[in-house]
Formats: sequence, structure tokens, C-alpha cells
Amino acid sequence: MNSFLIKGLGKKKKLEGTLRVNGAKNAVLKAQAASVLFKEEVVLKNVPFIEDFLQMNCLLGSLGVEVFHEEGRTFRYKISSGIKPEMDLKIATLLRSSVVLTGPILAREGRVFFPHPGGCVIGKRPIDVFLDSFKEMGAGVIEETNFYRIEAKKLKGADIFFKLPSVTATETLMMAAVLAYGKTILRNVACEPEIAVLANFLNASGADIKGAGTNTIEINGRSGKLLEKGVFETPPDRVEAGSFAVIASILGKNLRISDCDPSHMRAELSALKETGVDIKIGKDYLLISAPKRLTAVDIKTHEYPGFSTDMQAPFSVLLTQAEGKSMVFETVFDGRLNYLNDLERMGAKIIICDPHRAIIEGPTKLRGRKMESPDLRAGLAFLTAALAAEGESEISNIYNIDRGYEKIEERLSNIGATIKRI
Ligand code: EPZ
Repeated sequence: MNSFLIKGLGKKKKLEGTLRVNGAKNAVLKAQAASVLFKEEVVLKNVPFIEDFLQMNCLLGSLGVEVFHEEGRTFRYKISSGIKPEMDLKIATLLRSSVVLTGPILAREGRVFFPHPGGCVIGKRPIDVFLDSFKEMGAGVIEETNFYRIEAKKLKGADIFFKLPSVTATETLMMAAVLAYGKTILRNVACEPEIAVLANFLNASGADIKGAGTNTIEINGRSGKLLEKGVFETPPDRVEAGSFAVIASILGKNLRISDCDPSHMRAELSALKETGVDIKIGKDYLLISAPKRLTAVDIKTHEYPGFSTDMQAPFSVLLTQAEGKSMVFETVFDGRLNYLNDLERMGAKIIICDPHRAIIEGPTKLRGRKMESPDLRAGLAFLTAALAAEGESEISNIYNIDRGYEKIEERLSNIGATIKRI
């Protein structure tokens, strides 16, 4: 198990230079799953070299998808024989996105066997929306302890209302519906920008999807006819861009965050502006300098286009440095505030009111300490806190950070941070 050793900058040194934003984790993982819907081949461009992307390649390989690293950030996926309908237990429980594969496999093979998906420990994370929707499309679902067997000779289009706008359920059912027999309407679905990007990619290869990006999506199924071939350009990772924007807001001096898409970050950028951060917003970049004083603001996470739940942890570190009291209200997950206990042990002043709400009073000096990264975004939050603290910190279990941030220690060192992997 390796760790990061970080030397706190305190309030002295500033981080300067440019951080390039990579392709979005929560877009590329779904495009990888979509390769199962294709007869010929799929090319993915601008992929991020993060653990989840590499694990998903292993999972696809174990199912019979041939994965080729063409060059640089371009990969090619090809299925010459059929797809094995049973997921590799070990890999599938490593990442939440394994569940996204159930739609394409069920639609292509008529059956899929898989374990309860893994991923971040940020709450219960059930999959009832997936299972109920598959049943409405005529599938039989057998639930064993932590394992599921789903069979459907013919997936039929259906009019499905989601009890909540689950992001991966939206993507999974949208992909299943592409090969189904007849028309599917998905209602009360998620509107994240990655969903529209996925739909555009599938439509360019012969799918017929309308309304992606809104809360109602209509899909005319292809009655089992696979998609020809396609090329997917991974869009910038808005959560990585947001995470960097928070670091810049606390410690940056003219820090440039390049190759991002500010139009996907309106809620987070307006919250940052409210704290008094000086942000220049370009078409595909942000230029940020940390202000002398940060002002406390309340944040409430919400499905897109609201404040992203994935930005809640990094942003809370900034709130420990802001003057006044902030309320953090995490509405999406029921276990995504636990990391605040570690920030308290670094010196932050926090009252956790209930599993969804906390009050942070700042500014407080943070002291470096030993921490263990519990999940991807809390891990990034600990990294941010360690940079802002006085003294040295050690963060272990950094696999969780590598899951979503490529070579983060190299990229932060390039802008002046003292961080190394041990
Ligand atoms: C996706 O997770 C993202 N992951 C998450 O990012 C992100 O936090 C989340 O969407 C919300 O934006 C990927 O895209 C791989 P949900 P997902 O289903 O789809 C409940 C990161 O750090 N729910 O929208 O799993 C669920 O428990 C990760 O990059 C059900 O009750 O999230 C949660 O409370 C973390 N039943 C809420 O819905 C279901 O069947 C939203 O979850 C499905 C979900």
C-alpha cells in the first residue's frame, strides 16, 4: 500500500503554473461499457490513465472484448467472438461502473451475471433502480447474496419512471434500450453532461436516442441489431477541474487550469466566486488566484446542474479556510460526510449535525497529520488540506486517489507543491 508524503505550504508559498485537465472518468468508463453494443470496433480518445479506466479494461478483457492501446491516449475495442455474460468477481467489485456493463451485456447476450458493484464507500448505493427497470423491460431477475442473475430472451422497450435520477442507471438503461425491441421512455433520469456525450456518441453510430441531458430520454430500439463502429472523444473531467479550482482558490497565484469546460461547472464556479476567489473564466480554461481572505458560503449538493456531490469534499476544505460559518448539506449520498472527522483532527472547526449536514467555522489553521483516504473525492480533499496545512502529512490508501486522478503527485509538483509517492 503506497502513500503520499506532503509538505504543507501553510499560507506562505503559492502554487503557480498550469494544470491540464484530463478526460472525464465518469464519461470514459461508460464509453468503455458501450463497446459491448458494437459489432465492429470502437475507438476511445483522450482517455485518462486512471485506475478505474485500467480496471474496466481488465474487466472487458475478461468478458471477451479485445483491448488495444493504439497510441498516446487512444484505445481500440473489438469483439470478434461473443461476450461472456459472467463478470469477474474480483474486478467487478473494485469499481461501481461495473454495473453499467449489465445493460449492454443483457441487451447483447440476453443474460448477465454479476456481483453487487463496488466503488466508493459513500453510502448504501443500492441498485434497485437498475433491477426494477430491467424487469419492466421483460427481464427475469434472480437476487442471490451479493450476486445477481438477469435473463431476457428479448428486451422489450418500456415506459419507465425512475424513483430517483440515478446517473449510472440512466446510462445503463439508455444503452440497454438501444438494442431492445421497440421504444423505451426513461423518465425522471439524470441530466449530467456525460450522459448527453454518451448519447451523441451512440447516435453517431446508428442509435436513435432523443432527450439525453434532460430528465426524459426516448430511445427507439434496434431489435437486437448491433451498432456498426464508433469513435468517442472523452470530454474534460469537470470534477478534476473543480478539484484543481479549489486548490488554486486556497493556494494559487495565477494558476491556470487548462483543457476544461467551464460551462459544465456553473454551480461550482459561482460558489467559488461567492467566497471571494478571483477567477478568470475562458472558453476552455480557468485562471485563479487565491484572495487574501475567503468568505464562508453555504453549499447544498444537488443532481446536475446543481452543485456536484463529487465536489462537496474538496470544497469543504476551502470552507475551513473561509471567514465565518458555512453549512454543508449533502443531499445525494447518505455517507459522504465521514471524512470531516479527519479534517477536525487537523484543526478544522466542524459540527456534524446529521448524516447529511455539517457546519464549518473558519478560518482555522490546519496541522499536517497521518490520514487514510476513504474514497476518491475525500482522498483529494485530504491532499488539498495537507497542502494548506502547516507541517508534514502522510496519506495512505492512495489507490483511492489514483482511481480518479492520473499522476496527481507529478502534476502538483510541477506547480510548486512538495509531494512524493512512497
Ligand atoms: C455516479 O454514481 C458517479 N459515478 C458518482 O461519482 C457521482 O457521485 C454520482 O453519480 C452522483 O452524481 C460514476 O458515474 C461512475 P447515483 P452513481 O446512482 O450513478 C441512490 C466519483 O467520485 N441510488 O446517481 O452510482 C444512491 O444510493 C463518483 O466519481 C439508489 O437508491 O450515483 C445515491 O444515494 C462517486 N438506487 C443516489 O441514488 C439505485 O439503483 C444517487 O446515486 C441507484 C442509486
